[in-house]
Amino acid sequence: MNIDDFIRESIRKNEEELKKLMMRKKQDRISELLQKSGLGKRFQKKTFENFQITDANRAAFYQAKEFCANFPNTKRGLLITGPVGTGKTHLASAVTNDLIGRLYTVICRNITDIISLIKSTYGQKTELEEWEIVDILTTEVDLLVIDDLGKERASENTNTLLYQIINRLYNDERPIVVTTNFTSVTLAEKLGERGQSIVSRLTEMCEPVRTCGEDWRLKS
Ligand SMILES: Nc1ncnc2c1ncn2[C@@H]1O[C@H](COP(=O)(O)OP(=O)(O)O)[C@@H](O)[C@H]1O
Ligand SMILES: [Mg+2]
Repeated sequence: MNIDDFIRESIRKNEEELKKLMMRKKQDRISELLQKSGLGKRFQKKTFENFQITDANRAAFYQAKEFCANFPNTKRGLLITGPVGTGKTHLASAVTNDLIGRLYTVICRNITDIISLIKSTYGQKTELEEWEIVDILTTEVDLLVIDDLGKERASENTNTLLYQIINRLYNDERPIVVTTNFTSVTLAEKLGERGQSIVSRLTEMCEPVRTCGEDWRLKS
């Protein structure tokens, strides 16, 4: 091998090594983001690819896809509503997985768990103040996905924090993704004193996304 060939070959090998290293670094970062996301193992596997499109969910599927395609240049989030088992959490997880694959920080869980998650991942040494939790969720996290809003009986403290978080995102024109089984009237009732304010902001901030059809869990 002459010297030119030798140099060329060395450069090629170096580039290959570098590419592998970058891929590995990206994979490591994705694993880390997934771990911090709050997505359970089951929903880490739910993607747009394994979401089956039917007449009852076609519009919802494309709305969620478009949201991802436009991210982060989108002010409007998604308010995904529909009966149990119609793919709301699947779609919310697909959004989360898609964005994490592009190295965005996304958190997807119910609101009580989200707050606990932030306390344990960001405040290991000291107890976080409430304003710090709001700050992390509205600035350090690229997208907040609240699953099953109104379902768990959240404390009044959690509902107050929820209001602060949503209000901040609203003021900053940043998107949020929410799933819920409830109509806006019932949801407002479930979210305590500030329920009405929370729901009216969410309605303005988000595009309504509706999943219908049968419960997928009951399909054989
Ligand atoms: N369109 C779909 N294609 C494939 N699987 C689906 C679809 N919709 C729902 N599922 C599956 O059915 C189960 C229930 O869906 P899920 O998203 O948890 O419902 P919801 O949050 O609306 O109650 C999950 O395992 C989900 O992956
Ligand atoms: Mg769900």
